[in-house]
Amino acid sequence: MLPAFVFQTPDGTERGKYLALDLGGTNFRVLVVKIRSGIRKSVRMYNKIYAIPHEIMQGTGEELFDHIVHCISDFLDYMGMKNTRLPLGFTFSFPCRQTGIDKGSLVSWTKGFKATDCEDHDVVDMLRDAIKRRNEFDLDIVAVVNDTVGTMMTCAYEDSKCEIGLIAGTGSNVCYMEDMRNIETVEGDEGQMCVNTEWGGFGENGCIEDIRTKFDREVDEGSLNSGKQRFEKMTSGMYLGEIVRQILIDLTKRGLLFRGRITEPLKTRGIFETKFLSQIERFISTYTLIIALMHLQSLGSTCDDSIIVKEVCGAVSHRAAQLCGAGMAAIVEKIRENRGLEHLEITVGVDGTLYKLHPHFSRVLKDTVRDLAPKCTVSFVLSEDGSGKGAALITAVARRYCGGIDKYLYSMRFSDETLLEIMSRFRRELEKGLSQDTNPTATVKMLPTFVRSIPDGTEKGDFIALDLGGSNFRILRVKVSHEKKQTVQMETEIYDTPEDIIHGSGTRLFDHVAECLGDFMEKHKIKDKKLPVGFTFSFPCAQTKLDEGILLTWTKRFKASGVEGMDVVKLLNKAIKKRGDYEADIMAVVNDTVGTMMTCGFDDHRCEVGIIIGTGTNACYMEEMRHIELVEGDEGRMCINTEWGAFGDDGMLEDIRTDFDRDIDRGSLNPGKQLFEKMVSGMYMGELVRLILVKMAREGLLFEGRITPELLTKGKFETKHISAIEKSKEGLSKAKEILARLGVEPSADDCIAVQHVCAIVSFRSASLVAATLAAILTRLKDNKHVPRLKTTVGIDGSLYKMHPQYARRLHKTVRRLVPECDVRFLLSESGSGKGAAMVTAWAYRTLACLWDSPSPSPASKLVWML
Ligand code: G6P
Ligand code: G6P
Ligand code: BGC
Ligand code: BGC
Repeated sequence: MLPAFVFQTPDGTERGKYLALDLGGTNFRVLVVKIRSGIRKSVRMYNKIYAIPHEIMQGTGEELFDHIVHCISDFLDYMGMKNTRLPLGFTFSFPCRQTGIDKGSLVSWTKGFKATDCEDHDVVDMLRDAIKRRNEFDLDIVAVVNDTVGTMMTCAYEDSKCEIGLIAGTGSNVCYMEDMRNIETVEGDEGQMCVNTEWGGFGENGCIEDIRTKFDREVDEGSLNSGKQRFEKMTSGMYLGEIVRQILIDLTKRGLLFRGRITEPLKTRGIFETKFLSQIERFISTYTLIIALMHLQSLGSTCDDSIIVKEVCGAVSHRAAQLCGAGMAAIVEKIRENRGLEHLEITVGVDGTLYKLHPHFSRVLKDTVRDLAPKCTVSFVLSEDGSGKGAALITAVARRYCGGIDKYLYSMRFSDETLLEIMSRFRRELEKGLSQDTNPTATVKMLPTFVRSIPDGTEKGDFIALDLGGSNFRILRVKVSHEKKQTVQMETEIYDTPEDIIHGSGTRLFDHVAECLGDFMEKHKIKDKKLPVGFTFSFPCAQTKLDEGILLTWTKRFKASGVEGMDVVKLLNKAIKKRGDYEADIMAVVNDTVGTMMTCGFDDHRCEVGIIIGTGTNACYMEEMRHIELVEGDEGRMCINTEWGAFGDDGMLEDIRTDFDRDIDRGSLNPGKQLFEKMVSGMYMGELVRLILVKMAREGLLFEGRITPELLTKGKFETKHISAIEKSKEGLSKAKEILARLGVEPSADDCIAVQHVCAIVSFRSASLVAATLAAILTRLKDNKHVPRLKTTVGIDGSLYKMHPQYARRLHKTVRRLVPECDVRFLLSESGSGKGAAMVTAWAYRTLACLWDSPSPSPASKLVWML
């Protein structure tokens, strides 16, 4: 299941002139391929076949690649093209582990090849080195392609339903288009990617021993790669003749054939070629068959012998075709299930001498697929032009991307290695923020929240929750009752937070909050009650107790004056008092991450992390008290609000920030601050895409270089547009609609490119969050001294909820980065207000307990006050 880094089949827009190499089948070819797009869409090819002598196939790697380059040189001379540096697609029909379209290291040789020093080496590098050694011409190697993939692309150029490539030739193999979300070995979740199954290796773990015969074992033992490619050795052209020869020897030894006489030719390995099978099975009359056999094998055959030999050939080729049919049925069924279809119609592009030349192979294969996969209608299309054409088509697509978009976005894609590095940097930040000495200079503030446990199911009461700082300002009434089962009832109102208020004076802002609260109480007829209030305030606050929160700095859209450095509980109390028309008892101020963790903790007691990926981004988690140096006491745990949005404010992320990120920061309300948040969260992502589109248009890579005033307007491209454009079905038409609103008339290619930009930006966000979350998870695991961590992460935020691929990408990346953690991601369905009410319930009960008890000890009163 090797990822092939081919994301789509051709769409007819490919064009240009390419060179292709085709190595690994019966023939080695060098080709030049001219592709035209548009109405006169066509492909013209010129090729020359070259021999690869046996001693070169099994010599040294250097000799092999020098020989290949020698053939290219001859071909370029022949075509008069030595001085044109053409892009090259390299069909290399062996298993390669690819990390990109132009990078592939040979896993192991198969078929008749065994050149030394090639396995585990990058074949593109080896070809480049050989070109350099020859020092006669230069080539731009753009793609390395398996023959199955080349064949699929060749056929898909004519038939868009072709999403599978099959080779039944010297070797045997299949590739098909798999959903990215199922390919765990490659980053990314959207769209599809071609997977080269290398099904020839099926059975290497012993799983088909029950159907292998002693003849198969003998063939295997005599091969160049004993123990390997077991399925291939039962199904492909290189081995079928040899299986037949082994059976004939056996029958002869038993006296059932050739009068019991084993002739020299019959003893010779490889003498019975697969093409003989095709010929023998094609002969109708016994007489012609005997002649052929005598001619081919000097086997002194009788009439009975001929019938037996034909019978043996038939059994061997029939089994091969059935086995390929069974494999193919499994693949089409998988594709049908992937797509959730009752019925699948699909085309397989096929190539290979066995399929093309054998009289019955293709029929038996098709019959088997029909019997085993009745819910699929599978058409087989023969590739007429070999896989070189497909390799050229892939080169055309890869070049369009490499030369254009990816030049800009290369630095926004992170390898797992980079993500692991970011993860370990963040781990160090966590430790820096927790320690008393280093906390004052730490960027990630690790704020104690004074929340010491998640809900335990005994909370009850009637509470008000304020929820300020996300995209909506909400006020809620939360009633938690306890008849048999704990139940929660909530009533919510959403209030406006106009720009002039959040950017005006702090007094006005808190007057507005107090006014909205008054309105809520009025509406819900509770103005005369003094209900306990929990205040979700989604900004960094220093707390020394539950009901105090000193705003360290505004973030996101907020910038009211005179609030930073002040206790927001006091400011709100003051505003309420000033009104005098109702009373409120603010028991707790809670960050939205904490509210989210508590909301999710209500449903899942394992929840010990809360994260927000919305307008802003942040995380909290339960830390051991003994590690929190800023708070006295060593017992138990306390929730820490990490404020990870500030990660990188000390320059720690400069190596991964781009010029686009710097532009975003410069244009923000808080330059130099929340640098991680600005790479990740919903408030900034749309703007990031807009800046990239403008830059690309300026360079003529998009919209034919046209830039409209709307496209130049800050804020015109929103994060919700990214979510719409990345939808798998209607994404491209959404892109067209959204771009049209920005005054541009995008081409089909523009829409694909914009979708690609959105995917890279949102994917970067999910990868970064995965890295920081992974750091928290490893910390939890180490704190608990367990070999595996089983935990739940509560999540909220509009980006995570609305974006079609975000959640899956995040989950997948986290699982890859910390395979030792079993993480459940739990979406908070009811916002963090419910969690704030849970915290308030705990605070209220604790207070009530202390005050109601006949003689609360001074010590316990003190504990509460602290
Ligand atoms: C195609 C390709 C070759 C491929 C071959 C398989 O024509 O261009 O690269 O390996 O089919 O067939 P064969 O029977 O030659 O192995
Ligand atoms: C939750 C909370 C909000 C929080 C928000 C984040 O629903 O109740 O207080 O800030 O999620 O999401 P947003 O996307 O609105 O910033
Ligand atoms: C190779 C495959 C190839 C197939 C058909 C096998 O031996 O491992 O990569 O696709 O032959 O040529
Ligand atoms: C704030 C955090 C908050 C996050 C998500 C950030 O800008 O600093 O306190 O949790 O946004 O709303």
